[in-house]
Amino acid sequence: MRHYTRFDSLSATETRHVLRLAAELKKGRGQASAPRPFQGQTWGLIFNKSSTRTRVSFEVGLRELGAQSLFLSAADIQLGRGEPMRDTARVLGRMMHGAVIRTYAQSDVEEFAKLSGIPTINALTDEEHPCQILADIFTVEERKGPMEKQKVVFIGDAACNVPLSWVAASRQLGFPLVLCAPEGYQPPVEALAGAPVTIEPDPLKAAEGADVLYTDVWVSMGKESEKAQRMSAMKDYQINASMLAVAKPEALVMHCLPAYRGLEISEEVFELHADTIFQEAENRLHAQKGLLYFLHGENSL
Ligand code: CP
Ligand code: NVA
Repeated sequence: MRHYTRFDSLSATETRHVLRLAAELKKGRGQASAPRPFQGQTWGLIFNKSSTRTRVSFEVGLRELGAQSLFLSAADIQLGRGEPMRDTARVLGRMMHGAVIRTYAQSDVEEFAKLSGIPTINALTDEEHPCQILADIFTVEERKGPMEKQKVVFIGDAACNVPLSWVAASRQLGFPLVLCAPEGYQPPVEALAGAPVTIEPDPLKAAEGADVLYTDVWVSMGKESEKAQRMSAMKDYQINASMLAVAKPEALVMHCLPAYRGLEISEEVFELHADTIFQEAENRLHAQKGLLYFLHGENSL
C-alpha cells in the first residue's frame, strides 16, 4: 500500500512516472477510452482548512477515474469535536478505499496513513503541500522543458508548506532553488540538508537569472493571528516589475493561489502571467489524476 504524505513519499523515478501518467491522462481526458480504474470505490476528503483548488481537483479527478468522493469537513464530523485522528482513521479505513487529508499537523496525516489501511494523500499540512508542487513541476515542464535546468526562486514566507515541498522537490530532482525571505521566515538550515538550496534575503539578488519566480500567501491558514507582523516583515518580498526585470526574459511567474494582489504579487505582474498561473491551477487536476492512477497500482495507460 502506497501513500503520498510528503513529496519524497515517491522516489525520483516514481515522481517522473507520475508526471508521465499525468500528461497521458490530460491528453486523453474526456475520451471514451479514458481509464476508470477506481470504479466501485469511495474516497473520503477530510478537510480541516478551506480549499477551492485542492478540493475540486480531487473531487473531479476521482470522479473521472471512476470513484465516488465524500467531502468530510472536519467541522462536521466528530474529529472537530475532539475524536482522535487514530480512531477516525480506523473507522474510515473500514468503509472507504482512500483518503485525501488537509489539516494542520503533518503527524495527523502520517497517523491516518499508518492506521487506516487505505492509501492516504496529503492535501496540505503546515509542513508540506506535495500535490501542489507535483502540479507545479508538471506546469514548468509543459512550458519550459526539463525541471533540472530551471532556477526556481521562491519569494515570501519561505518557512511554510509550499516552499518546504519545493525544497523536497529540489533535493529529489536536483534543480537549484533560491529561497528569498526575511529573517524569521526562512526554514531552519537542517531542513535544507542535501538539497541544492540557497537562502538569499535580498529580492533583487535572488531573482537574478531566475527561470521561475514563485510566491505564496504571506499569511498561511492558521497564522491569521500573526497577520500584522507578517505584513510588515514581508512588505518588500513581492513579485513585481523590478524583480521581473532581473529574472531571465522568458521567466515564468507562478503562484499556488489564492493570490493577494498588492501583497505577495503586484496586480500588473499577476495579470501579465495569469495564463501560466491558471494553467498551474488546472494542472492540479491532471497531476493528481496521475498520482491517484499510480497509487492504484496502474503503471501504464
Ligand atoms: N493552491 C491550493 O491548494 O489552493 P486551495 O487552498 O484553494 O486548495
Ligand atoms: N501556504 C498556504 C498555501 C495555500 C494553498 C497556506 O497554507 O495557507
